[in-house]
Amino acid sequence: MLSIKLTDKKFWENNVEAYVFLMKENLDSASDLDSLSKIETEFYPHLKQILKRHKFNGQKGQTYVLTAEKNGKLLQFFFVGLGKLDQAWDRNLEILRRAWASAIQRMKHLSIESAIVALPETEPFKVSSLELLKQLVINSYMANYEFIQFKSNKKDDWNCQLLFDVVDADFTGFTQALEYGKALGSAINTARHWIDLPGNIIHPGTLSEEAQKVAAEYKNLSCTVFGHERAQELGMGSFLSVAKGSEHEGKFVILEYKAADSTAPTIALCGKGVTFDTGGISLKPSSSMDGMKYDMAGAASVIMLMKFFAQLKPNVNVIGITPLVENMPSGRASRQDDIVVAMNGKSIEIKSTDAEGRLILADAMCYAEKFYTPDIIIDIATLTGACAYAVGHLHIALVTRDEDLKAALLASGKLTGDKLWPLPIDDDFVLANNSDVADLANTGARSYGAGTITAACFLESFVNKARWAHLDIASTASDAPGINYLGKGATGASIRALADFIISYGNQDSLMKNLHNTE
Ligand code: BES
Ligand code: ZN
Ligand code: ZN
Repeated sequence: MLSIKLTDKKFWENNVEAYVFLMKENLDSASDLDSLSKIETEFYPHLKQILKRHKFNGQKGQTYVLTAEKNGKLLQFFFVGLGKLDQAWDRNLEILRRAWASAIQRMKHLSIESAIVALPETEPFKVSSLELLKQLVINSYMANYEFIQFKSNKKDDWNCQLLFDVVDADFTGFTQALEYGKALGSAINTARHWIDLPGNIIHPGTLSEEAQKVAAEYKNLSCTVFGHERAQELGMGSFLSVAKGSEHEGKFVILEYKAADSTAPTIALCGKGVTFDTGGISLKPSSSMDGMKYDMAGAASVIMLMKFFAQLKPNVNVIGITPLVENMPSGRASRQDDIVVAMNGKSIEIKSTDAEGRLILADAMCYAEKFYTPDIIIDIATLTGACAYAVGHLHIALVTRDEDLKAALLASGKLTGDKLWPLPIDDDFVLANNSDVADLANTGARSYGAGTITAACFLESFVNKARWAHLDIASTASDAPGINYLGKGATGASIRALADFIISYGNQDSLMKNLHNTE
């Protein structure tokens, strides 16, 4: 457990076990010199030589720990290098996140029980110190995440009290930033935990129960769950065609957060929730089935975002819709060539039962349009393997025709480190999903290539009035290479960016308010 607090006492007056110093290269910034001289006068008169001897000079990625003793108590000094911070502001922020994450991981390794850190100067990051605090708090949680529930030789839980030094500043603002960071950091880690849980534990039944438990904690959050019977009444032939192959009944989950102001705009988030994707009758080869437990990452992200909004109370109504299914082959499963009809009456030829994400999301988006007429729909899905080729594992693929929405989402990605990258989409791609026998085919024609875009185009035909954006997290939801705070397994991709996007959207002072659809 991490317990994070603010302190307005002077840095050195805090009674902690560890002092963390985020230092620039060459250790020559005013605050670096200050901390060094304090350690020199009280503990190590030859500190500079010691650091030099061990080649610590604040380069990016460096860490160094020194132990001292005061009144019979051990103290630890953690030196963490930030490098020159001479890159673009968003890159500098990412360097800070990773440096802080390495401090967290080293403190965890050493079972540090309490620590303090001062916020760095804001200049290289071009954001406020409130934003820095928020991001470092989120990052503390993310860096601490491990999926170890099933390891019998795991170490005791790490309990640490972390203090952020915010002396002489806007304490109320910092308190809000801290609350934001704690709420989002723990939401991200719960989502990651669900995503990491395997398909024998997380299935439509258990995940829908988790959603209900989340909603039960908050007055401003309601949850509706229904199964096959109601889905049939609603005409969700597309959703049901995927669900029916499994022993686990498909569940359709709707979480509703209502803003206090009844005139607030409405955003619907639709998250793909395939708790395991075998491919169905179009069975995946076993090497491609590896990791298909992650195929509900969109749904887990949406459920935890809804919890976060219930806590943060933005001035925007948010609807979280997660169709939950297990995609299995069986005597009851859909076949290739089957034709099904979605809730909006469009018929779909199933060319591959492995292109199941778009089938369940089609009905989710119809449901959002029919019952909520949202201003904006954003869907989040581990939708296509092609995504890894299009944008790699470090960017979420963004597909939208709405330039303002695109700009706002990219900006949130850039600020939070949850990066997005846009792919092109226009009418020419629409033809790729033509079918000879139905209104649409569920796979894009091979001649068009661009599987990520043609899949997005398929989804677009289930949007009616709303402004819409699609996030393909297939290549970012798990196993992001080279990022220490994402580690192994689930990453929580899209949660930080969407949290920022929606909170800013609901903020009256924000530039984003001109996004509100006033038609
Ligand atoms: N869940 C997969 C997409 C995926 C692939 C996610 C690899 C993460 C890693 C999706 O349901 C799928 O199987 N898509 C097919 C679509 C194809 C049949 C048109 C794909 O990408 O191969
Ligand atoms: Zn599939
Ligand atoms: Zn899938």
